[in-house]
Amino acid sequence: MSTFTLTRQLPEDATYAALRADVWTGLTAHPKWLPPKWFYDARGSELFEEITRLPEYYPARAERAVLCRESSAIAAETGARTLVELGSGSSEKTRLLIDALRAAGTLTDYVPVDVSGSALQRAGRVLHADYPGLTVHALVADFTVRLDLPPTAGPRLVAFLGSTIGNLLPTERAAFLSSLRATLRPGDALLLGTDLVKDEQLLVAAYNDASGVTADFNKNVLAVVHRELGADFDPDDFDHVAVWNREQEWIEMRLRARTALTGTIPAVGLAVRFAEGEELRTEVSAKFREPGLRSELADAGLKLTHWWTDSEGRFALSLAQPDS
Ligand code: SAH
Ligand code: AVI
Repeated sequence: MSTFTLTRQLPEDATYAALRADVWTGLTAHPKWLPPKWFYDARGSELFEEITRLPEYYPARAERAVLCRESSAIAAETGARTLVELGSGSSEKTRLLIDALRAAGTLTDYVPVDVSGSALQRAGRVLHADYPGLTVHALVADFTVRLDLPPTAGPRLVAFLGSTIGNLLPTERAAFLSSLRATLRPGDALLLGTDLVKDEQLLVAAYNDASGVTADFNKNVLAVVHRELGADFDPDDFDHVAVWNREQEWIEMRLRARTALTGTIPAVGLAVRFAEGEELRTEVSAKFREPGLRSELADAGLKLTHWWTDSEGRFALSLAQPDS
């Protein structure tokens, strides 16, 4: 018998309060910005799934190739009885890990963690049907806030795939890794997916696809602010922009106002003015190099033990363990 439970660790009103606070802070700042976690309502999660199927968006395929090749080694190395996954989304690639851990005979519990309740519901239904005997404890939670994991058997493998760690700013990343390290017990491990620094053209194309799906994903944050806070921005008044920041080695997604405009956001009592051409930063997507990541992990008390890349060296999976 498999079981599926979904627990909200974020009360609805806390999500609303956090969105209001972020909108207030970000849209009164210079330059304007918003955190990328607000893309992922039901529509945003669907658009992200569409992105993963685009010819330009190589990270999803490259990470899948590494997982296909290395899942059995990861299962043997970790012997995980519980798989925790942060920002699990559709849990699609995760099936490769689940299959390998089940083939090794160790996995009993899967704990997907995501801010998107709709993505967790959808993924949970399918996993429940496909994996008899697996207990799925889905958590609607923000992984940047200290995690309260269910008391499942160890060792635990915490997977953070898709290079979602790159959507955190460097200071947020350091805080996140330290906090994650504090929740790990001896024998637990972290499996981290990171997109790697590469040719600028390939990078920019992955965030500015010809069919415009990434533009729709980017503009979805305006739909969320409209629905939740009553804002009256018209998405058609903004252009999607993706640029490579060479110094920081990250892609920035922005929304650029086509004309001077003012939008009102009744729920926070704001009138927000954009000059013509003014940009709102909606996401950074950092790209990594092995030495830098090794040192960030070490600073958080994590030792990088394995580093695997796809055959073209575009994307890496690393395995790290608490260093004491
Ligand atoms: N891991 C999947 C999905 C990546 S998309 C893959 O590799 O394809 C990023 C996912 O992280 C989305 O499902 C989004 O809802 C979730 N997410 C983004 N910020 C989050 C946060 N702060 N806390 C929890 N989940 C978050
Ligand atoms: C989820 N995250 C790692 C994606 C990325 O590539 O930074 C989100 C995304 N943004 C635009 N396309 C995809």
